[in-house]
Amino acid sequence: MSLVVINEIAKLREVIKNYKKEGKTVALVPTMGCLHDGHKSLMQKAHSIADITVISVFVNPIQFCPGEDYDKYPRTLDADKVVAESAGVDIIFAPSVNEMYPNLNKFSDLTMVVPPYELTDIMCGKSRVGHFDGVETVVSKLFNIVQPDFACFGMKDIQQLFLIKKMVRDLNFPIEIVPCPLVREESGLALSSRNKYLSPEQKEIALSLSKALFAIRDAYKAGIKETKKLFDVGLTNLDKNVELEYLEFVDNDTFKPVESITKTTICALAARVGGVRLIDNIVVEV
Ligand code: PAF
Repeated sequence: MSLVVINEIAKLREVIKNYKKEGKTVALVPTMGCLHDGHKSLMQKAHSIADITVISVFVNPIQFCPGEDYDKYPRTLDADKVVAESAGVDIIFAPSVNEMYPNLNKFSDLTMVVPPYELTDIMCGKSRVGHFDGVETVVSKLFNIVQPDFACFGMKDIQQLFLIKKMVRDLNFPIEIVPCPLVREESGLALSSRNKYLSPEQKEIALSLSKALFAIRDAYKAGIKETKKLFDVGLTNLDKNVELEYLEFVDNDTFKPVESITKTTICALAARVGGVRLIDNIVVEV
C-alpha cells in the first residue's frame, strides 16, 4: 500500500473504520513532524507490530508555553513524507490547527486532560507550565480519532512517556503503549528536531550533555550510589557554556526523586545551548 496523507478527521475515521472491518490492527506514532531517525525507529516499530501504521504530523499549539518556539518550529511535511514512506507508514494524518481546535481563540473553553500536579511540577513540567496538559489533551484527541491498538512513544521524552502510560491506565484507553529506545548520533547526541537550530560549535557543546550522563552511569558502575555525588559527576562533565535547567534522578516506577540508587532509576536533564532547549536521559539499571 502506498502512503496517503489525510487532513480531515472525518476522512481518517472512515478509512480506519474500513481497515478495522477487515480485522486489521492499527499502530499510531504521534509526532510534530520534522522527522529524524529517532522517529523512524518509532515508525519501524509500529510497522512491525500492526497491519496499518498511522503517524500524526501536527505541531500542537497548546503544548507550547508563551515565548517558546511554536512559530519557528520546523514544518517539513514534504521531507517527512519521504522518511515516513521509507519506514513503512501507511497514513500520515496532518490536520490543520482549525481541524483539531475549531475554537482555539476561546482557549478557556477547551476541555483539557490534566495530569496530576505532583508529576508535572518536576523536571520538564516545572519550567514548561501547562506543557503536559497540552500534550495529554492532544494525545487523547489523537487516540479518540485514530482508535489505535498500539501507540509508540520515544524514551527521549521520558516524562511524557511516563505520563501517557499513566493517562492510558487512569482513563482506560484500550491501547497498548509501546516505549521505544532513545536514538543517538554516533557522537552520543540524542536525536531531536531541535538539533536543527544548533550551529556546529553549539553541537560540540551539546555533546557534553550525553557525556555527563554517561559519566554518571560509569560512576554508578564504579560504586557511587548517592545521587548528590552522581549529580556532581554530571556537573563536572558539562561544558561551561551549557545552561543547565535540571539534572534529576527519579524512580523508574513512580517518578519520585531518588537519593541513593537501589533500583532502576532515570537520570534526566534539560539544558539550553545557545538558547536551544535540549533534553536527554539514561536509565540506570541496578
Ligand atoms: O513528543 C512529541 O512530539 C509531542 O509531544 C506529541 C506526543 C506528538 C504530542 O504533540
